[in-house]
Amino acid sequence: MLAPDLLTFADGAPVAAPADWTRRRREIADAVVALEFGGMPPAPSATRWECISTSWDPRVAKPGVRYVSGKVHVEGGSVPFSFGMKVFLPPAEKNKPRVPVVLCGDDCWWWMTTDMVNEALDRGLAVAAFNRCELAPDIFGPRDDSDPSQRARGIYPLFPGRYGAIAAWAWGCHRAVDALLQIPEIDPARIAVTGHSRGGKTALLAAATDERIALCGDNQSGCGGCSASRVVGDGGEKLESISRDWGQWFGPDLASWGPRPDDLPFDQHFLCSLIAPRALRVNIGLGDLWSNPLGAWEVHKACRAAWRLLGAEDSLAIAFREGPHRYGADDWSRFLDFCVWKLAGGLRPLDIDRRPDWAV
Ligand code: GCU
Repeated sequence: MLAPDLLTFADGAPVAAPADWTRRRREIADAVVALEFGGMPPAPSATRWECISTSWDPRVAKPGVRYVSGKVHVEGGSVPFSFGMKVFLPPAEKNKPRVPVVLCGDDCWWWMTTDMVNEALDRGLAVAAFNRCELAPDIFGPRDDSDPSQRARGIYPLFPGRYGAIAAWAWGCHRAVDALLQIPEIDPARIAVTGHSRGGKTALLAAATDERIALCGDNQSGCGGCSASRVVGDGGEKLESISRDWGQWFGPDLASWGPRPDDLPFDQHFLCSLIAPRALRVNIGLGDLWSNPLGAWEVHKACRAAWRLLGAEDSLAIAFREGPHRYGADDWSRFLDFCVWKLAGGLRPLDIDRRPDWAV
């Protein structure tokens, strides 16, 4: 079993009852968030959603669909900061004034096609997207805090701290949630977050550190996300290389641990378990060896103890499919199945007949 054990306190006492989880969860958060991600940026004093245009988009021009674009304004830094967000709302249904939403920070990549947005809308889910690179640039290379150019853009100069880019992006998700809560059609209790690869690492950290997020759909986040650092299958990415080559995503001290992952005071089940008992679904491509499918399975198995303790075992899912590194239409459909199951009224007979991929 992946070490350290989730259900043993740092002083060796067992975590025996659901009531123990609050204190253990705090220990787990303290162990992983500061060292892996450099902590989170400070909380803002206020967030304000500004709707700039409400219209329709010819690509999602179904009757009743609304396309809203606007800005998320954040106060509390040395100067005010804003980033863009777009929201697609499904047609309003009688007696259902509020809808679940899927939030994604990968607008810088836009793997999400128009058909994928339309599928979510057809299934009664809103979609919200922002470009996480507006919050912190995505730069390849070792982290070097003595190089002033590395942290000159995005929120770094406005909200000083030791955090890396993934924490800045996850904080962007939190501010997007602040903004979504100001949109009357969005149901505050049914906010899902998703992302691909580095965007999946972001989605995991965002859900791990904000309990307003009800569901996380991670797509192939791999090393530093859903996959273990201690158990790496052939061809899998190792902590040593990610913490060096992508050092700016992480906290300043992680690279010094890269060569000795077995000594770390956490593995990635720590990060994922912070989401329990809320819903988590991890999607892995078996051909994507770099994302370490074996390590994702080890993390999933270790996480079960936390969800089981909290009586929520059927809110933890992992799916393996054939194929490479991508967030395709099929991945999206299966993720939406999970959202519909967990956030929009349970499984219908049709879904059960299809034997969903997370059923064990
Ligand atoms: C690189 C990196 C991975 C990351 C991926 C991506 O391959 O090594 O850790 O997940 O980029 O974000 O696409």
